[in-house]
Amino acid sequence: MNQAFLVRPNKLFTPGPVNIPNRVALASISACYHHRTKVFSDILTETLELMKPLFGTVRPVYPIHTTGRGAMEGVVNNILTPNDKAIAICNGSFGTMAATMMDRNGIPNVRCYESWTDTVNLEYLEKLIQDEKATAITVVHNDTSNGLVNPIWEIGKLARKYDLMLIVDFVSAAGCTPFKFDEWGVDAVVTASQKGLMSPAGMSFCVLSEKAENACATIESRDFYIDFKSIKKSIEKNGQTPGSTPVSLVLAVHEAVKIIHEEGVENVFARHHDLACRTRAALQAMGFKLFPETCNFRSDSLTVATPPEGVDIAKLTSYMQSEYHLQIGKGLGDYANQTIRIAHMGYCYIEDMIQCIAALESAMATLGWNQTVGKGLQAFLAYSDK
Ligand SMILES: Cc1ncc(COP(=O)(O)O)c(C=O)c1O
Repeated sequence: MNQAFLVRPNKLFTPGPVNIPNRVALASISACYHHRTKVFSDILTETLELMKPLFGTVRPVYPIHTTGRGAMEGVVNNILTPNDKAIAICNGSFGTMAATMMDRNGIPNVRCYESWTDTVNLEYLEKLIQDEKATAITVVHNDTSNGLVNPIWEIGKLARKYDLMLIVDFVSAAGCTPFKFDEWGVDAVVTASQKGLMSPAGMSFCVLSEKAENACATIESRDFYIDFKSIKKSIEKNGQTPGSTPVSLVLAVHEAVKIIHEEGVENVFARHHDLACRTRAALQAMGFKLFPETCNFRSDSLTVATPPEGVDIAKLTSYMQSEYHLQIGKGLGDYANQTIRIAHMGYCYIEDMIQCIAALESAMATLGWNQTVGKGLQAFLAYSDK
């Protein structure tokens, strides 16, 4: 056991999992409810109700006992069939993941925007929909690999125009950024517990449109474990889930969404936006380039950036970890050694980011990468959207 972890807290600036508020950690062990009791059903029901504003919906929110990947795969298997043809928007690791899930599950799909620096061009997307006679689109709202946000509000208009099933991965932005499920015309959206919901990993949540629910009702899901027919039936019957519910996780998420409502949902979104803008300003002042360099919509959950020439990302991240007990994310995939990913997601306030930026500057100076300590922090503090 690493003794340092027992003495000095490890602070996460990784884009999931994130730091867990003490209230959430304590709530998760506060009681030992059986999952087939009214007291527990009431907690789960309240959790799902409190989550609706995070999705921008009046529709039911369904709990799924799995992480985000499991929930995405479940959605795909419950509402698409081998007779469908999906357009998979792949401008990030998690966009590609959805395409791979469809490949593995025998759902025909056409990949597009395969570069991690691609911006979705709506005219091209429309042409692709027509040419391929598509029936569905899969897309990530906030791709955690590159910090790109895809314009679901525009893609939704196309989905409605062509009557496509629009499936959105919202794993790394729920509780961070507004989402308007009902207004944007989305058919299925998925999020998970370990990011903006400030809880341990292991639970996911999903909203389905009426059209998606109708599809679930008629399709024999290839998935036994995640079968929305039985999840819906069980939730409607007594506010419970099929199988043994991870009670401690539900207690954690329940507390987390209560905290979000105490701060105010709009205030939480505004905090994320402010921290994202400040962090981008700080990194640019320190000589980083935002990644991708050109991009229409950047994430409010995390900042992805390319360091100045000569910086060794592995050394930088491991120094931050060993000396300051702060963990930031390395890049993913082909960009593993080219980008860093810093999350300002969930339980993260201005004082946390001040600490992170200051530590980053100190680490770079100590490691000899010519950083004028203070430049980043100054830009962080000076940022104003006024
Ligand atoms: C955008 C996105 N989608 C899906 C996933 C997969 O979720 P999980 O790790 O909970 O299975 C992640 C995890 O990082 C993610 O960031």
